Amino acid sequence: MAAVKVRNVEKYFGATHVIRGVDIDIEDGQFTVLVGPSGCGKSTLLRMIAGLEEISEGEISIGARIVNQVPPKERDIAMVFQNYALYPHMTVFDNMAFSLKLARAPRAELEERVNKAAQILGLGQLLERYPRQLSGGQRQRVAMGRAIVRDPQVFLFDEPLSNLDAKLRVQMRSEIKELHQRLRTTSIYVTHDQIEAMTLADRIVVMHDGVVEQTGAPLDLYDHPANVFVAGFIGSPAMNFLPGVLRRQAAGDEIEFPDGTRLPRPDQALGEEGQEVIYGVRPEHLVLCEPGRGLPCSVVVVEPTGADTQILAQFGSVELTAVFRERHDLAPSSRVDLLPEAGRAHLFDAASGRVLRAA
Ligand SMILES: Nc1ncnc2c1ncn2[C@@H]1O[C@H](COP(=O)(O)OP(=O)(O)O)[C@@H](O)[C@H]1O
Ligand SMILES: [Mg+2]
Repeated sequence: MAAVKVRNVEKYFGATHVIRGVDIDIEDGQFTVLVGPSGCGKSTLLRMIAGLEEISEGEISIGARIVNQVPPKERDIAMVFQNYALYPHMTVFDNMAFSLKLARAPRAELEERVNKAAQILGLGQLLERYPRQLSGGQRQRVAMGRAIVRDPQVFLFDEPLSNLDAKLRVQMRSEIKELHQRLRTTSIYVTHDQIEAMTLADRIVVMHDGVVEQTGAPLDLYDHPANVFVAGFIGSPAMNFLPGVLRRQAAGDEIEFPDGTRLPRPDQALGEEGQEVIYGVRPEHLVLCEPGRGLPCSVVVVEPTGADTQILAQFGSVELTAVFRERHDLAPSSRVDLLPEAGRAHLFDAASGRVLRAA
């Protein structure tokens, strides 16, 4: 196992600046997820760590060693891709043994390592099968098996579950987490799926347009997003954003919305009189209240899932999403008043998108 450091890394493809000054510190044994929308540079960064893509500027180190000039096969990493890339003409055993054979491992060691990985992944009965005789989940497990047998310093995953159906994805997600809890190998996992990031990561790195927007533990990012981008990206359904203006008052600052409605300023938020702000509140942090106390809205759609009730409601020009644990029978077009739970709202500067929070 090893720590991984990414220092001031830049990547250009010709004139296109794809990675723009990225710094990441990954501790030994940690499971780090790089998450962000498609095209933000996650795979490029991972491929630079793997040595499959040249580093334009900056430094990447694995353990004590700067690896900029180290070829991929000498970096002691193993990578698992989205399209498992199994060899179709080889059995599961041979697929898993392939890299060890290339490295001329002795037969006994090779068998021991493959059998151990197969046992960890529940592939023991499938070693003589060919990839076409396996389900999607089994193939993905073989792909992971190939990585495990090498006992690398670092596992790199690039959207390994994207080709699986929803149910299998959830199952494999738990398996990967369990695997990490067992092996404790430093892991870097790329996904565009924030739920995958939240559920798997010790630490999440949120990327956007080639820069790191925020790094932190999953619940830290959820509770304390540093800016509008992270606030909107982490959490599902997404946070509601309401443009407003900060009003300083002796009796307590307020946020004024375009229709004149006012709410108390979120506790920790700082700001100037007249400052344009964005008031953020998660769907699960809205409660129903009496008329006059919250945001007057008109119900658009009610969506019961059984476990909870999701409501879309119009507040001025903003469509708000609210999720309640209780069941509510609300007619479309009827009036509801929604109030953010005390201490749960966020305030951002409208111009910069940065959170307004006392240090
Ligand atoms: N080999 C390449 N040549 C030119 N542009 C590339 C190449 N690989 C990736 N890109 C561009 O770099 C950006 C980041 O791509 P990528 O790292 O694959 O994003 P992600 O994995 O986050 O979806 C995209 O705009 C993509 O088009
Ligand atoms: Mg990618």
